[in-house]
Amino acid sequence: MVRTLRSLPGSGYAARIVPRVLPVDPTNPDPAIIAEAAKVLKRGGLVAFPTETVYGLGARGLHAAEVSRIFEAKKRPPGHPLILHVDGEAMAVSLASSWSPVARALVAKGWPGPLTLVVPKAAHVPLEVTGGLPAVGVRCPRHPVAQALIREVGEPLAAPSANAHMHISPTTAEHVVRSLGDRVDLVLDAGPCAHGIESTVVDVGSDPPRVLRPGALDLAALRAIVPDVLYESVTVEGDVARASPGLASKHYAPHARVALVDGTQLLRLAREDAASGMRVHVLVFGAETFAIVTSALATPLASPVTVRRLPDDPEGYAHELFAAFYDADASSCDRILVERVPDTTPWWAVADRLRRAAEKG
Ligand code: TXA
Ligand code: MG
Repeated sequence: MVRTLRSLPGSGYAARIVPRVLPVDPTNPDPAIIAEAAKVLKRGGLVAFPTETVYGLGARGLHAAEVSRIFEAKKRPPGHPLILHVDGEAMAVSLASSWSPVARALVAKGWPGPLTLVVPKAAHVPLEVTGGLPAVGVRCPRHPVAQALIREVGEPLAAPSANAHMHISPTTAEHVVRSLGDRVDLVLDAGPCAHGIESTVVDVGSDPPRVLRPGALDLAALRAIVPDVLYESVTVEGDVARASPGLASKHYAPHARVALVDGTQLLRLAREDAASGMRVHVLVFGAETFAIVTSALATPLASPVTVRRLPDDPEGYAHELFAAFYDADASSCDRILVERVPDTTPWWAVADRLRRAAEKG
């Protein structure tokens, strides 16, 4: 059935054909729905499915022509590697030319879960999947729908986040529809993702292993398994970005411009932007800043300011952040002012995504 999205004014999402969406129970998925999704994949189609991190845009990962449809749908240039989603360690080992003791240790504690390992690729893994690189990213998701789907297809599923290139990762099926429209054949809707932020990506081919992207598995948990894992909070461009695409900047941005500001600057900037006619969203965490900002902005301004309070713990904040960005875009907001989050390791993934969103060129 084809419907149009009429409820989303402006922001580039204007009435657009939406794909087929099937609701599915997140904990106990109906085998008939999983079989239907597997059928679409086996015919060479694209299925957006939930994982515990974000929704993925899936195709059969060992079929180059099907994988190339992912790039077309996302409008993603070739040369960006995709993660292969597996049903367990045996399938992952079959995709690697070697499987180190470090990989074994990480998998023993981190899978199924929000952890992606970059390992040397086996010869039969298409270069379309790895963006031409000699290494492949593999992940065993915890979400029952993702697990059931991989098992039913019986092969690894290539799945980047199910959003248009450079846009925000979707944490609900509605976000997928807003970002990709009908460029996906089927969306499995299992409600919001538990983490709401992408997996942690670790290159286990380097010695010591290196974090390529901070994510839902936090640094403390990672260090408990691999004490010498390297993590540098850097973004890079050019050749280095190509070799380690997880480090490249200019990702994960909403359409509205994002600025990270100290709590003390929030009020002044929100007033200035609103006075110049901009529609402003302010994202704060913690009750105190929220109370100060909302009461101070209660007096009418030239343009409305929407203040949203996110949880003051990193997991809760991560769970809501991308939804807050999607909501801001859906309301045709021009500017998102974000209260700077703490510079401590539990906030690593949130801080990374905020920095990239603000770096949009
Ligand atoms: O949580 C997630 O990881 C989600 C869900 C759907 O699994 N997927 C996801 O995929 O975020 P994507 O394509 O949006 O991001 C994958 C990240 C990118 O930063 C990419 O550069 C890195 O993983 N990556 C994948 N394969 C790689 C490889 N062979 N070498 C280096 N980095 C790789
Ligand atoms: Mg992505």
